[in-house]
Amino acid sequence: MLAQHLGLRWPLIQAPMAGVQLHALTVAVSEAGALGSLPAAMLSHAALRDELQAIRAATERPWNLNFFCHTEPAPDAQAETAWREALQPYYQELGVDAAKIAPGASRAPFGEEAAALVEQFRPPVVSFHFGLPPAPLLERVRRSGAFVLSSATTGDEARWLEAHGVDAVIAQGLEAGGHRGHFMSDELSRQLGTFALLPQIKRAVHVPVIAAGGIADAAGVAAAMALGADGVQIGTAYLLCPEATTSAVHRAALRSQAAAHTALTNLFTGRPARGIVNRVMRELGPLRAPPHPAFPRATAALAPLRSAAEARGSGDFSPLWSGQNNTGCRDMPTAELTRALCRGFEGPEG
Ligand SMILES: Cc1cc2nc3c(=O)[nH]c(=O)nc-3n(C[C@H](O)[C@H](O)[C@H](O)COP(=O)(O)O)c2cc1C
Repeated sequence: MLAQHLGLRWPLIQAPMAGVQLHALTVAVSEAGALGSLPAAMLSHAALRDELQAIRAATERPWNLNFFCHTEPAPDAQAETAWREALQPYYQELGVDAAKIAPGASRAPFGEEAAALVEQFRPPVVSFHFGLPPAPLLERVRRSGAFVLSSATTGDEARWLEAHGVDAVIAQGLEAGGHRGHFMSDELSRQLGTFALLPQIKRAVHVPVIAAGGIADAAGVAAAMALGADGVQIGTAYLLCPEATTSAVHRAALRSQAAAHTALTNLFTGRPARGIVNRVMRELGPLRAPPHPAFPRATAALAPLRSAAEARGSGDFSPLWSGQNNTGCRDMPTAELTRALCRGFEGPEG
């Protein structure tokens, strides 16, 4: 029993969502009896420390701290130049001086400093995306006493994670919003929908399996549990909650008809992630072939276009991350949404 083991009322994990939430969402979910998550990938060390202190001050319930664990790529001047050339017409249109844009990485992987914060703040649960960190770092997390999770997008990845000691696997289906968590193969045809992936991963491993992707209401929770999930992880449904920091253009897109059309795109970061199709994805094509800066270095060249467009109320250059099923997005307090979702654990009628 996952909930019992983690001290939760319900085996529901609010998906960590870098860039659209801070501790307020985490705390609201945990206080409601499910597992709130804090994403660390886009926070500086100092900002992460502040967030951890805020969680500690606000709740004694269990919570999850989430990290990306990609390998940082070396700068690639040729890819950077090609990407800026592709964006040149937009720089001109929006009056952006491309010469002033500093290249760089938008997201940091789990490292020494983060491990020290885990040791200091001892989150009850630590989850990873893109595999696992190097063994010595993972060992430090394990020794802190954390229950360790990571996302798998295929049966092979789930087996690998189990062999490397995770306590549970998140089965991330293709419907999921945000970045794909794959780490063994970049071939997108290997990526499966949640209800095709879940039984395959259940068959592949002995540890508990948490279903993620496209689950947006109590009936979806009940369906995942009926298919053998030990718990669920839900992201997109929380994006309109007042405790999320989702931007105004992102909220507007989620409420619009446009939200019905999402696609995987690598334009914003260099790695495939699912978001609502917008102008830059339509005009350049959502998935760019190399030369394109590797994750997470593609963000820098696009960032000033995003800022300039958002200042005009436009999401044309923003990553509008969303899963395929946004029917559960509700402009309602997080605790209320969490309770509504958790009715799915009471049976198919919810
Ligand atoms: C806006 C957004 C940001 C995300 N950021 C992260 C993240 O920082 N770390 C992570 O492990 N997963 C992240 N994800 C993926 C979720 O963990 C999860 O797989 C997904 O939300 C589940 O599908 P759903 O969005 O259909 O509920 C993000 C998802 C969204 C929608």
